[in-house]
Amino acid sequence: MRNLPKVELHHHLEGAAPPALMRDMARAKHMDIGGIFDEGGNYAFANFDMFLKVYEAATSALKTPQDYYQLTKAVLEQSAAEGVIYCETFLSPDFCGGRDVGAWREYLHAIRDAATAAEKAHGIALRGIVTCIRHFGPDKARETALCAAETAGDWVVGFGLAGDEKAGLPKDFAYAFDMAREAGLRLTAHAGEWGGPQSVRDVITDLRVERVGHGVRAIEDPALVAELADRGIVLEVCPGSNVALGVYPGWSAHPIARLHDAGVPVTISTDDPPFFHTTMTREYERLSDTFGWDEAMFGALNVVAAKAAFCDDATRKHLLDRLEHSDD
Ligand code: ADE
Ligand code: ZN
Repeated sequence: MRNLPKVELHHHLEGAAPPALMRDMARAKHMDIGGIFDEGGNYAFANFDMFLKVYEAATSALKTPQDYYQLTKAVLEQSAAEGVIYCETFLSPDFCGGRDVGAWREYLHAIRDAATAAEKAHGIALRGIVTCIRHFGPDKARETALCAAETAGDWVVGFGLAGDEKAGLPKDFAYAFDMAREAGLRLTAHAGEWGGPQSVRDVITDLRVERVGHGVRAIEDPALVAELADRGIVLEVCPGSNVALGVYPGWSAHPIARLHDAGVPVTISTDDPPFFHTTMTREYERLSDTFGWDEAMFGALNVVAAKAAFCDDATRKHLLDRLEHSDD
């Protein structure tokens, strides 16, 4: 499974930070973030709310563009070693320069430099989805959208919404999403992870997204499942994340196979791999063990992901060629 080429569409850059790297960065700045780790040195949290707090505490050790260069380099080396050939990562100007456009450009420059070097060294391509954080509120989301609009192009390709799904409503973020859409960005939003089917309907209707982050709880409404299938709305499914955070009690209860069998375009991602003790290879292995999915199935899902990627068509064609010739 490790060598199978993989396309990952749902990945948070800070959420992929190796815990040891965050400890080193905190130590270098004389910061104490020790409380967020367990005895084994892994991130420790008991539920989603604590996860978000631990995530933000770890991220507080990232203070400069150079820190993000190092983070991106480490993350892409790891992803490439798991067979990932293309990754779309969520980036938040909230953490990168406090939503100041000038500072954001500097962070972005550093992240892109690391991505260019990783593409040369390991053949992995990275693109960015600028993401507002729901529990930071709609006003900050507008500033984030301005950062996104100012830097939209061949590398910043999308705009998203992450964070606490219980905070506010998707329509509160419609202005930010309208700005991003007008700047030519493609849209996705987290929904149907903690919220039920209505939360998925809301991001489709109110934010006009073309993909949904998670979206798995759509399974609770057969009419919505049929609509997702009909309209070809792609779900960025992160099964290991859902199991680790307790959205589902175990892998066999996860609805990814039922959604797929109902014709919904599903893709596979890790979300925040070290937080959930996962990698892309591990996700594939668990799906294979649980649902009997084989290499041909993963190959087909990677084609779905490449077609749903927010990159330009030349990049997509290159990806599809690599997927097609993966066993040559
Ligand atoms: N930020 C990082 N991971 C997330 C998740 N799974 N849901 C919402 N926000 C997140
Ligand atoms: Zn996520």
